[in-house]
Amino acid sequence: MVSRKNARHRLAGAFAGVAVLALGLTACGGSGNTDAGGDADAGGDSGSGDLITVGFAQVGAESGWRAANTKSIQDTLTKENGFDLKFSDAQQKQENQIQAIRSYIAQGVDVIAFSPVVESGWDAVLEEAKAADIPVVLTDRAVDSEDESLYVSFLGSDFVVEGEKAGQWVVDEFGDEEINIVELQGTTGSAPANDRKAGFESAIEGHDNLKIIASQTGNFTRSEGKTVMEGFLQANPDIDLVYAHNDDMGLGAMEAIEAAGKVPGVDIKIVTVDAVKDGMQALADGKFNFIVECSPLLGPQLAEIVKQVVAGETPEKRIITEETTFTQEQAKEALPDRQY
Ligand code: AHR
Repeated sequence: MVSRKNARHRLAGAFAGVAVLALGLTACGGSGNTDAGGDADAGGDSGSGDLITVGFAQVGAESGWRAANTKSIQDTLTKENGFDLKFSDAQQKQENQIQAIRSYIAQGVDVIAFSPVVESGWDAVLEEAKAADIPVVLTDRAVDSEDESLYVSFLGSDFVVEGEKAGQWVVDEFGDEEINIVELQGTTGSAPANDRKAGFESAIEGHDNLKIIASQTGNFTRSEGKTVMEGFLQANPDIDLVYAHNDDMGLGAMEAIEAAGKVPGVDIKIVTVDAVKDGMQALADGKFNFIVECSPLLGPQLAEIVKQVVAGETPEKRIITEETTFTQEQAKEALPDRQY
């Protein structure tokens, strides 16, 4: 039987020459190349022999979570493990990711994997990958395409459940108390921002004492989280709780609260998602109050999926990572062994 890899290489070889010219991309060799701005290295079949060539289009480097996710992928998809990884950083811009994916198609990689910046607008480029017979694996974030044949598998978290866990903690913690909540949303249009918002809202629904009085994007970054929180504090003297869609924005909010002369974790409670080391430290220090875990360590599972696909097997369509939650006491216990 002709494996998917060999059959597709013949097709991709012809396609690559035309597409590289059309895109005007610069050729460069090697593996695991990181090219900020979305340009992935191009140049046709990389001559990687029996290595499985994977083009990975990363969102960016917006958070501690993302740094850990990139490390997990780069540490796993190594030559020693049988992979030739081509890596690009889209700097949180969808157009850069689309350009990177087109470059991977042009190069005729064996598998494309990416974590979509936003949920919408992928059908055209995914159809191009499908036409070139290059399987696509979604990691971390989903797309809203109705045609599920455009990707072979999704590997990541259930962001709705994460939002529900955060909301449920607030419900359990505050009972009937009147609580004014401000929400720091992730990147507008991204799956984690949409789903964590929806999950949280559904968990607090029917509890009229829990009010979201302001909600704005902080784009998953510490600096934007801080700026947005400064605005919230100026506009609202009675904030009781911050729900941040990730640790980094929570850490930015923490700085803004301290700068406003209040005590984070006491005067204003902070609930976040991720559980990266900096967030866990803030939780252990009593400056955060609760964290919902979101695991960035997707490299090993991605490697398995890629191997299955190249072997002509069908991986599970949706693979959800197992995650937990942390209170302040649990963070103190977990911190010494925390991997990221
Ligand atoms: O998609 C996962 C989210 O993206 C993480 O929660 C956040 O920190 C990252 O930027």
